[in-house]
Amino acid sequence: MRFSLALLAIRLSLAAPAPQQSPPVPAGDGKNYIVTLKPGNSVEGVSFDIVNPLYTYNFEKFQGIVAPLTADEAAKISADPRVASVHLGGEVEDPFVGIPLVVPESKENREFRESVSSQVSSGEIGLAPIVQVDAPWGLARISSRETGGTDYTYDSSGGEGTCTYIVDSGIQASHEDFGGRATLLADISPEPGSGGVDTQGHGTHCAGTTGGTVYGVAKETRIFGIKFCYELGCPGASLPAGIQEAINHYQANRDSLCRNGGVVSLSLGISNYGWEEEYGYNNPEFDAVNAAVEQGYNAGLFIAAAAGNANLSAEYFGPAASPYACTVSASDIQDVRPVWANWGPPVDVFAPGVQVLSTWIGPNNNETAIFDGTSMATPHIAGLAAYLLGITPGLAPGALCERIKSLATKDVVELGDIDRFPTTRDVAYNGLEQE
Ligand SMILES: *[C@@H]1O[C@H](CO)[C@@H](O)[C@H](O)[C@H]1NC(C)=O
Ligand SMILES: *[C@@H]1O[C@H](CO)[C@@H](O)[C@H](O)[C@H]1NC(C)=O
Repeated sequence: MRFSLALLAIRLSLAAPAPQQSPPVPAGDGKNYIVTLKPGNSVEGVSFDIVNPLYTYNFEKFQGIVAPLTADEAAKISADPRVASVHLGGEVEDPFVGIPLVVPESKENREFRESVSSQVSSGEIGLAPIVQVDAPWGLARISSRETGGTDYTYDSSGGEGTCTYIVDSGIQASHEDFGGRATLLADISPEPGSGGVDTQGHGTHCAGTTGGTVYGVAKETRIFGIKFCYELGCPGASLPAGIQEAINHYQANRDSLCRNGGVVSLSLGISNYGWEEEYGYNNPEFDAVNAAVEQGYNAGLFIAAAAGNANLSAEYFGPAASPYACTVSASDIQDVRPVWANWGPPVDVFAPGVQVLSTWIGPNNNETAIFDGTSMATPHIAGLAAYLLGITPGLAPGALCERIKSLATKDVVELGDIDRFPTTRDVAYNGLEQE
């Protein structure tokens, strides 16, 4: 497991961006194709006898079907006048860099969790600042105007009454740091027999940064893991279905469990690099995920998206490029952009994404690991959104991204060798300290 994850990390961080190749087909995945309909056609009105659809995407901006097909069937469907394109599904660009370093949880962190749990159980929740001493550096960074802090200062409301959806490799919901606030909502991964377990660790790490008790920004949010990745990757054609799961749950619970708001964290991206040149149109998975994000935004969900780790403009990645996502790039403990972090106009804000300590998978439910990537920056912003919704319930997703941008500490990120490209230099800040 460790070995294969390491291989994956190396493959992803060294891979030159290119039009998506046929993915390695894991057991049980079959060959899923994504079939896109021409404008004016709707999946509701179209039936193909030979298609046994896995997903039917009926988004306002995207009509398409994901289905296991033989090459013959794919060719037949391509010839249908209602069909715009048929492509073999690709793999998501999973924006993490390097190999996670698994470390034991420190005594201070364990003690902090115990102290917070006792406050919660005695009902001491309300509008009052809490100081988490010796917090993970990323949490300290987003509650200070300066670098070098070690305390995370936050309002004790902690995103209470919000729902956070992590569409990723699932979640080890039993990890102690989630304090019973985490649930695996859905498993749509091609990993039969995993029982919904997070076999990568990526989703559990991201969830911890958003909402863990010690490692998280919003320490009272409800966390829902949606699993679509398997041990060695993430089928891009399934990502919109994962987002749809979040939309469905939020719509059913927006007046109860999620009464203060809902947030989706997407530490993943679909590359559209080179598609226009090669095919004359976008990667259909890029269009599909952007359409799903727009649908989520219209349903009232705030969506944080990773800029990606290819040292490219984020405009080549979905949903990073979508104006309906709040797009996050990574900075380090000194506010320096790491050389791999994507940039460009789609980036709304920087957040800590180098050497991020968070929850990890393992038998003891107290494992932690240090990980790099815009994947790690993104859940800081998802958590910050949940936190701000806990203070200002019902803030609409566009206004919330604007709020995060206006609170951010201005002009501090050193962009390095891409500083000639227009890119924000602002680092996220939670606004707790008065100016
Ligand atoms: C993690 O949990 C295991 C099993 O309960 C325990 O033996 C170990 O001491 C814990 N680790 C830390 C760092 O607290
Ligand atoms: C990052 O991309 C920019 C723009 O293409 C390029 O000038 C720079 O050399 C790249 N940096 C690295 C470390 O590859």
